[in-house]
Amino acid sequence: MARLRVGVLVSGRGSNLQALLDAAADAAFPAEIVLVLSNVPGAFALERAAQARVATAVIDHKAYDGRQPFEQALHQTLLDHGVEFVCLAGFMRLLTDGFVNQWHDRLINIHPSLLPAFRGAHAHRDVLAAGVRLSGCTVHYVRPAMDDGPIIAQAAVPVLPDDDESRLAARVLEQEHRIYPLALRLIAEGRANVVDDRVRLDAPVAEGALINPRP
Ligand code: GRF
Repeated sequence: MARLRVGVLVSGRGSNLQALLDAAADAAFPAEIVLVLSNVPGAFALERAAQARVATAVIDHKAYDGRQPFEQALHQTLLDHGVEFVCLAGFMRLLTDGFVNQWHDRLINIHPSLLPAFRGAHAHRDVLAAGVRLSGCTVHYVRPAMDDGPIIAQAAVPVLPDDDESRLAARVLEQEHRIYPLALRLIAEGRANVVDDRVRLDAPVAEGALINPRP
């Protein structure tokens, strides 16, 4: 079967991109990364793509007069590379309704909290300030509202007494790298479809509970 042609949008270090590239390096993985597109020239993610011999493009938002022409350029570049499905991986620009709707149910994101809690750019800081005992990460289809949309996969980790933002972020990131390829695989295999704006999973689910503190 033909592999799903995926474009990944990045802005920074690209560790989630790396997890997707590594998964897709296996010919049996049902998706291939055909384009890595950055809005930040020189982003380390671009080097990761080059290393994996994946095509790259830079579309610097600063070179455009407003969001619409910037997003039109993104859209056209994705189409030019035959991209069928888009993954946001640390892409730090908000996308307008126009772009999000053009890629409806063909656009997913990873966020470092258990959505719908702790949306926004400072999830770990907000988690620590709230004093919650568990955090985690979420892969979700993208809707126009920020960090909103049908949830595909989540992983939970404990928040530990000595955590600061970077320790918590590292623990969550490890799980991000597990669930992003997992979510993309399920989608590419047609096992995570949106029905009534929720994801219907055709996959085994994890059982048991993660409890913090230990009983
Ligand atoms: C990750 O924490 C991701 O959840 C968030 O931005 C960060 C990107 O990290 N959306 P990386 O560029 O994938 O290393």
